[in-house]
Amino acid sequence: MPAAHAFHVIVLGAGAAGMMCAATAAARGAPALVIDHADAPGEKIRISGGGRCNFTNLSGGDATRYLSGNRHFAKSALGRYTPADFLALVARHRIAWHEKTLGQLFCDGSAREIVAMLTEEMARAGVELRLSTAAEDIAHGPEGWRVRLSDGTTAEAPRLVLATGGKSIPKMGATGFALNLAESLGLPIAETRPGLVPLTFGPESLETLRPLAGVAAPAAVSAGRARFEEALLFTHRGLSGPAILQASSYWREGEAISVDLAPHGAPGEALVAAKRAGPKRALATALAEQLPRRLAQALADGSGLTGNLADMPDKALRAFGEGLRAWTLKPVGTEGWRTAEVMLGGVATSALDARTMEARKVPGLHVIGEAVDVTGWLGGYNFQWAWASGHAAGEAI
Ligand code: FDA
Repeated sequence: MPAAHAFHVIVLGAGAAGMMCAATAAARGAPALVIDHADAPGEKIRISGGGRCNFTNLSGGDATRYLSGNRHFAKSALGRYTPADFLALVARHRIAWHEKTLGQLFCDGSAREIVAMLTEEMARAGVELRLSTAAEDIAHGPEGWRVRLSDGTTAEAPRLVLATGGKSIPKMGATGFALNLAESLGLPIAETRPGLVPLTFGPESLETLRPLAGVAAPAAVSAGRARFEEALLFTHRGLSGPAILQASSYWREGEAISVDLAPHGAPGEALVAAKRAGPKRALATALAEQLPRRLAQALADGSGLTGNLADMPDKALRAFGEGLRAWTLKPVGTEGWRTAEVMLGGVATSALDARTMEARKVPGLHVIGEAVDVTGWLGGYNFQWAWASGHAAGEAI
């Protein structure tokens, strides 16, 4: 008969949240076991931020930068484990970092340094990490949790932490495990959908968008009430780039998005001025002073304005310029879980205690990280939520 191991806590998932939780709990004296079906811990950390890991954001403590069924829920954990706390940990491990833009903090070297930092923190605190191991059966009784593992052993503990993340990038081992288990234990689930994901378009829009594939331009993209001013990227299937990824989390099927190609300019006035300065010039040439050349050419071709600037009435140029500030497009969908950076939705916050991340109706069960219905903006916010929620549960265990 395989031996049963007694731990104080079993953490399912050796990702960002699970490792932070286990290290925190074990450092406070709680024997912890972390299991993961992958053969390496923190795989999403490793590939994040183009291999440099955008590990937090200077505004990571601002709860308005997270989407959730309850916009107040994240405040408690984010307030008690801040970007400065994570930076102090990074400093203790002598990991060099820099701010890229918009408060986004990246490693100077490699994302692997963050994975190594977390595995070292776990090892120092005595956490047992078992990789290539799946939970095959989970039973809950008055004495706690009993988890049958794929290595033939059984682990027991009074506390169980669900830290298996979201459904994005199934190719990397992402599963709906946490949601299925939480649901089977009676926890409500907020509807899930891919977030921070490129948007796709039907044939009509693609006629304009596809020839521009590869072009990037600064823009402000609005979806619902949210507006993001960052880069926009044209792709073969539609639109991507940070501004679109951000807006995608707020976009709902059937709705249109609005693209402002001159968030700080008055493009109509600039074209009228260009006409005065050089009436013989083509519209595309004048527009290329404000926008990337290929985009300027495509917009001029589709403008319906003919001849050179001198042939175009000021009013028409102003109207065309105004159109550049409110280009309305209707996506048909998103690139889906295959490429989404995060999962929106998850275990409903109403089921969890915001301070401890413990399930209100299932004592001893904690849910942390992306599995919870808290999703950050692009730019280090999702890791900050993973660290903060993992830390909150680790402190409570
Ligand atoms: P995470 O996904 O990190 O960990 C879950 C763990 O559970 C994994 O190790 C998985 O193998 C394991 N697991 C799953 N199912 C299991 C099962 N059934 N049994 C056992 N183990 C199981 N965020 C950010 O802030 N800055 C960034 O730069 C990026 N960049 C980025 C790039 C890409 C390509 C992606 C896909 C995502 C990002 N993110 C990001 C988002 C960020 O990676 C994500 O929000 C966190 O990793 C979530 O942390 P968790 O610990 O909740 O899940």
